[in-house]
Amino acid sequence: MSPGSTQHVPVLAREVLEWLRPAAGSVQVDGTLGGGGHTRLLADAVGPGGTVIAIDRDPSAIERAHAELACPPVRPVHANYSDLPEVLSELEVAGVDGIVLDLGLSSDQLADRERGFSFQSEGLLDLRFDRSRGEPAWRLVERLSAEHLADLIYKYGEERYSRRIARHVVESRRYGSVRRADEFARLVREAVPRSRDERIDPATRTFQALRIAVNEELKWLEVALRRLPECLKPGGRLAIISFHSLEDRLVKESLRENARLEVLTRRPIRPTEQEVFVNPRARSAKLRVAERKPFEEQRE
Ligand SMILES: C[S@@+](CC[C@H](N)C(=O)[O-])C[C@H]1O[C@@H](n2cnc3c(N)ncnc32)[C@H](O)[C@@H]1O
Repeated sequence: MSPGSTQHVPVLAREVLEWLRPAAGSVQVDGTLGGGGHTRLLADAVGPGGTVIAIDRDPSAIERAHAELACPPVRPVHANYSDLPEVLSELEVAGVDGIVLDLGLSSDQLADRERGFSFQSEGLLDLRFDRSRGEPAWRLVERLSAEHLADLIYKYGEERYSRRIARHVVESRRYGSVRRADEFARLVREAVPRSRDERIDPATRTFQALRIAVNEELKWLEVALRRLPECLKPGGRLAIISFHSLEDRLVKESLRENARLEVLTRRPIRPTEQEVFVNPRARSAKLRVAERKPFEEQRE
């Protein structure tokens, strides 16, 4: 299926530009291309003499970028952002001036009913960013024990009803496997008490947990936090937007502990009320930024 035009609204767009300060002619990396919102802004700033290397694990995002964005300065690349050192050596780029990561999933992935990201989706509960690799979520749900499933939902979804949900899901297997996203969301709702805060769908945390698990999101973020600083030129900046407390903790600690970096944001940058009003997806976003020190200051 052709990916069509993006529905994604970039989060903290003005703030990312203010902190990365992409100069005309500079080399920037958008490690999470998605709908290309941040890539477009970076491309306007660096101009035709600069470069924006736009990476995504999702082939649909790359296909859309090829159709809509692939003219100088944007170079779309299908890869994991943690492989940036290899991507740069293939492109013969020695170092970059800025890197942005905007974690999580895009509105385009959510809207694609065949991929199972939405609770209303009649498609399989897949939840992979790249469907050519790894195990889809429905298979994970089919094979894990109740205990293992509960641990996963608790750890990555911070869901207090994880045990009830896991027990109910495993019991339902007796009547056949549940593979559709909407059917799985119904099972989760059945397991969660009704009186709780109804502002978000009761299946939200469980879907998030499965998505983080099947894409190994925390593992790749951890690898990237180790490897990406070495790709920056001295004075180059790394900006990371996270949406989840586990991710934010990892980003905060890793930036602080890296001897090559100086953290520029003592507290995370949050979206304005106005941004959250216009784009509710921004409500839990936190931006942290660090700068690569000059070489002589990098020794511990
Ligand atoms: C929140 S969206 C980015 C939206 C984008 N900033 C925009 O404004 O349109 C996150 C994107 O990152 C991609 N992604 C997640 N983990 C990734 C990884 N480890 N490597 C590369 N891309 C990844 C997802 O496929 C998704 O398209």
